[in-house]
Amino acid sequence: METIRLGIVMNGVTGRMGTNQHLVRSINAIRAQGGVALADGRRIMPDPILVGRNEAKLSALAKAHGVERWTTDLDAALGNKDDTIYFDSASTGLRPELIRKAIAAGKHIYTEKPVAPTLADALDLYRRAEAAGVKHGVVQDKLWLPGLQKLKMLIESGFFGRILSVRGEFGYWVFEGDWQPAQRPSWNYRKEDDGGIIVDMLCHWRYVLDNLFGGVKSVMCLGATHIGKRWDENGKPYAATADDAAYATFELEGGVVAQINSSWCTRVRRDDLVTFHVDGTLGSAVAGLTECRIQPRAATPKPVWNPDMPQTIDFYDTWQLVPANRTYDNAFKVEWELFLRHVVEGGPFQWNLLEGAKGVQLAELGMHSWRERRFVDVPPVSV
Ligand SMILES: NC(=O)c1ccc[n+]([C@@H]2O[C@H](COP(=O)([O-])OP(=O)(O)OC[C@H]3O[C@@H](n4cnc5c(N)ncnc54)[C@H](O)[C@@H]3O)[C@@H](O)[C@H]2O)c1
Repeated sequence: METIRLGIVMNGVTGRMGTNQHLVRSINAIRAQGGVALADGRRIMPDPILVGRNEAKLSALAKAHGVERWTTDLDAALGNKDDTIYFDSASTGLRPELIRKAIAAGKHIYTEKPVAPTLADALDLYRRAEAAGVKHGVVQDKLWLPGLQKLKMLIESGFFGRILSVRGEFGYWVFEGDWQPAQRPSWNYRKEDDGGIIVDMLCHWRYVLDNLFGGVKSVMCLGATHIGKRWDENGKPYAATADDAAYATFELEGGVVAQINSSWCTRVRRDDLVTFHVDGTLGSAVAGLTECRIQPRAATPKPVWNPDMPQTIDFYDTWQLVPANRTYDNAFKVEWELFLRHVVEGGPFQWNLLEGAKGVQLAELGMHSWRERRFVDVPPVSV
């Protein structure tokens, strides 16, 4: 049976996300499993060329992961007609310019989020991609996390009855970098380098809320820079100018209220690094990255407020684990496979540059709300 080769120009793969999630866990994993199977029996085999600025880093990365092709010449890579997809996981600020170039070169686009630092740029990319007739997709990985897939199944099964509210807790302690190295890149903490947790996380929360709980109608967001000084990858101190925590409330279509805290300055005592607690009239659930626990109405304990007595109910013990009745693949890989199929077979692919732009819009409106200290409505994006 025929194998269809798809050449992918992968830019920014020496970075954290590019190496781990996109090269190793997605593209190389797809290659190792023999490609992506199509309905008619043909298979798609991705063939990456790694692009970056640093020859030494690139060649080491290529060698470590058995990739034959790499280059520091992005323009030459874009000029190669045999590589039809441009993928970008480099830093956000450069993205619009590079994607415009790739669209002009006729490439299909697949990109990390945020697709651009501003809504105007994000919409410009969408319009250009549509006008050029290229296919486009944006990483919306959280949708394929096992925990969120289980939540989706609960929603579709009617488990919750009427959903009342969603409380999301995202975050963990990111080390300042002085006595222990930080576990995230330093640009994330500098506004001047397009860092900040609002721009980083609100684009995720947009597609999670829109897809699972109802379209986002309005946002109230309070940001904070709790830690003003950090140390970079070279141990040099710098001013942390970007927001490192965001406390946001969203009104959703259908009346659901969502509150999501995002913070790089919090120590974890909960089930996972992100949890979504959903309360409905017939039951509640708490989903993490992998697991999801439920408490149906009929199994709800009856606490009585009495500060004079130690608590008698073990609240963690009154929940039931949703079983993994199927296997869950890496979330980034699942979306890559859908995108590669979309490139070859056509057909709908809803997680595109327009959806990516909506994420950027929510981040912008979140900043706006913080500045003006009020709720801000989310209008439809005008294409
Ligand atoms: N989907 C997710 O859950 C998720 C999580 C974290 C980050 N991200 C996004 O992924 C992207 C990369 O984040 P990261 O954490 O991997 O960052 P990183 O700093 O580890 O990697 C950035 C990459 O871009 C390259 N780069 C930086 N400046 C460049 C320039 N001037 N020219 C060419 N290449 C340049 C770096 O060499 C590196 O390879 C960001 O847009 C970020 O928002 C997504």
